[in-house]
Amino acid sequence: MSILLTGGLGYIGSHTAVELLNRGEDVIIVDDLSNSKIIVKNKIMQITGKKFKFIKADLKNLKKTEKIFKNNNISAVVHFAGYKIVGESLNHPIKYYENNILITLNLLKCMEKYNVYNMVFSSSASIYGDQNEMPVKETFSTHANNPYSRTKLYIEEILKDFYNSNNKFNFAILRYFNPVGAHESGLIGEDPNDTPTNLMPYITKVATGELKELSIFGNDYSTKDGTGVRDFIHVCDLAIGHALALNKLKEKPGVFICNLGTGKGYTVLETVTTFNKVNGNLVKYKFVERRSGDIAISYADTTKAEKELKFKAKYNLEEMCKTSYKFEKNNK
Ligand code: UFG
Repeated sequence: MSILLTGGLGYIGSHTAVELLNRGEDVIIVDDLSNSKIIVKNKIMQITGKKFKFIKADLKNLKKTEKIFKNNNISAVVHFAGYKIVGESLNHPIKYYENNILITLNLLKCMEKYNVYNMVFSSSASIYGDQNEMPVKETFSTHANNPYSRTKLYIEEILKDFYNSNNKFNFAILRYFNPVGAHESGLIGEDPNDTPTNLMPYITKVATGELKELSIFGNDYSTKDGTGVRDFIHVCDLAIGHALALNKLKEKPGVFICNLGTGKGYTVLETVTTFNKVNGNLVKYKFVERRSGDIAISYADTTKAEKELKFKAKYNLEEMCKTSYKFEKNNK
């Protein structure tokens, strides 16, 4: 039996593939390469010394999706495939709704037809939107404020409806905070096709000289240094979270919703300063206006992850900064 990773050559998918292969699982990766590179397949094999099946396919196509389920013995789906750039989603909402939701619907149809009952879904802490209280608990109300986040929220609702219609299914919905860092080998990491919009990949490209200077969006928030606060979590910790979530599904939890973060918030300025401390003084920055749609502070309540998943993030911010830069240098 194999675990199907949709979007498995992408940033979080590739690290999860490594984790699962290292745990002795059989993995099948399907990816349309729209925001990933085929070379990642070989990198995963190089890191793990293991082989796995790769299928290039667009899961918006039901026939192609069905063929994958028909031809393989799949025990569970870890569903990463989806567009993820907030700004782009504001300009191209249909593209986001069509891609992210249609892929999920096709997967659910096939899971039902081929009796595959377990799915781990990549959700996002951005569905919490702006909250008055920190840390953020899973029980908080949701306030998705852009099409990207709304696709994540709507998919969560679709999974719940699907479960209510047939409770043979099990869904683990993982709400990621801010994934950063890279595998310690420096072989895989975050590698966006376009100029990055997220903080860490922007920082690493300034460090290598590919981009000139980091703009810090806002220094007038009510935080200790005025810059935004985020819960940065190392992608290898996240990958472990997925492996634990797959185990949890075997215990039959129905719909299990869980934050994946460290529970600690760091400011953007602290993050840049830490990066400069561990990698040499490489990142110049300036303060500019706030970015529209940004919230001041976001960090996770990790109680549920600790209790029910036995998950505790182990990498610190220095390791996140070191590995992010190591990958960027290797990959340049
Ligand atoms: N930031 C800068 N300069 C930059 C980029 C970011 O100052 O060039 C700041 C932002 O203003 C924010 C912090 O760094 O305060 C983190 O920003 P990111 O763009 O890295 O991440 P967000 O917290 O905005 O996260 C959002 C959603 C996630 C989603 C992610 C992916 O909340 O769910 O973007 O695009 F997954």
